[in-house]
Amino acid sequence: MKEIVSNLRSDFLWGSASAAYQIEGAWNEAGKSPSVWDEYVRIPGTTFKGTTGDVAVDHYHRYKEDVALMAEMGLKAYRFSIAWTRILPKGRGEVNEAGVKFYSDLIDELINNDIEPLVTLYHWDLPQCLMDEYGGWEDRQIIDDFNEYASVLFERFGDRVKYWISLNEQNVFVSLGYQLAMHPPGVKDTQRMYNVNHIANLANAKVINTFHDMVPDGKIGPSFAYSPNYAKDSNPINVLAAEKAENINAYFWMDIYLWGRYPKSALRYLEEQGITLDIQSGDMELLASAKPDFLGINYYQTNTIAYNPIDGVGVGKMNTTGKKGSSGETGVPGHYKRIVNEFVERTNWDWEIDPKGLQVGLQRITSRYDIPVLITENGLGEYDQLTEDGKVHDQYRIDYLQSHVAALNEAVANGTELLGYCTWSFTDLLSWLNGYQKRYGFVYVDKHEVEEGTLERLKKDSYYWYQELIHSHQTK
Ligand code: BG6
Repeated sequence: MKEIVSNLRSDFLWGSASAAYQIEGAWNEAGKSPSVWDEYVRIPGTTFKGTTGDVAVDHYHRYKEDVALMAEMGLKAYRFSIAWTRILPKGRGEVNEAGVKFYSDLIDELINNDIEPLVTLYHWDLPQCLMDEYGGWEDRQIIDDFNEYASVLFERFGDRVKYWISLNEQNVFVSLGYQLAMHPPGVKDTQRMYNVNHIANLANAKVINTFHDMVPDGKIGPSFAYSPNYAKDSNPINVLAAEKAENINAYFWMDIYLWGRYPKSALRYLEEQGITLDIQSGDMELLASAKPDFLGINYYQTNTIAYNPIDGVGVGKMNTTGKKGSSGETGVPGHYKRIVNEFVERTNWDWEIDPKGLQVGLQRITSRYDIPVLITENGLGEYDQLTEDGKVHDQYRIDYLQSHVAALNEAVANGTELLGYCTWSFTDLLSWLNGYQKRYGFVYVDKHEVEEGTLERLKKDSYYWYQELIHSHQTK
């Protein structure tokens, strides 16, 4: 194992990640108010078999047991998100001390076990009251409210938490929420999506500046869901289509985070589509002033792109059932479409397994931005079988993770400055639209869609593999 970690720094953050809504449960306890997800999952037909995070894997009550499992494994870092609704139940104003205490205790528990806390400010669970009051991310009021919420966290935890993630996958929550109507608030309106996105960019920039004032010895960056785009072949029309997809779906976000500007070709494309960006006086200055200390990357797969004729495919079906092959081609007519990559395997949810793609992505980031990278998510969602004697032989997950770690090691040899690697996820958890059957964890949790399960935790084979990997790096 030593050879696949040989280039990684000695203080490498070997981590694992989660998000509040997907693990905590206790959705209405200790002063917490409902988030948009608490409401959305109650709308029939929105999630797989109507699953909710009401109980999730009950991390809220079992966090000590979970941290003990992390410590036993030798985990160096744990990325988790804070539920805004526990800290400021009204979205702003009065602080809920019970909510602060929960996270403060969790942070202490981690630190006492030599695990570095990496805190995500926002992993999609907006207070419902702010949605009701002014439409959440659609109103510029959110910029100040998000900044107020983040300031409370910086003030209370900034002495102990040195790594912060601002927004998790802004590109995902704006597109699934406002373009594809698959996440709250279930809107299908591309213009609104771009409005929301610009406001989220401003909120992100403001919070980064506030952080640098309040926690000068800490580091902060957004987590971007990066799926690098490949051309199907060397036919120039496919190469141009892939370039376009990369500009519109990747650089459109990363250029703003790191350079404070939108790529020209993406702006031109939006203009052609009749989309306007509501850029007001002072916006571009704010965006340019915020300098993340690192870029968080959530990497799962690549996109293989071909030219899409004007009468070609539009938005295709997403596989949220785990029936392999049930997803459809998806694209923008007249521009590009995503097709199946015949050179790589796919999971049961049709996600392409492409470790080299991680290397491609990191090389692009390093060449373009030359910024330290923290892998904030990477992992395999699959069905796991529990044997009668309580084991999970998830060799497929070990293979997946091992090949991605090897790709990271190569990327570092090629010049990427890599701070750490967080697998998704530590325990099994709720996969937003896919229920509990799509499992990602090192630790199996007895939790299911229909019957609740005992919530018992069991170590999978991958748990021992990661333990050994971390150990082999520490002793290299
Ligand atoms: C990322 C999210 O999009 O991918 C996680 O940040 C999510 O919250 C993970 O769970 C895996 O996606 P999914 O849809 O398989 O749960």
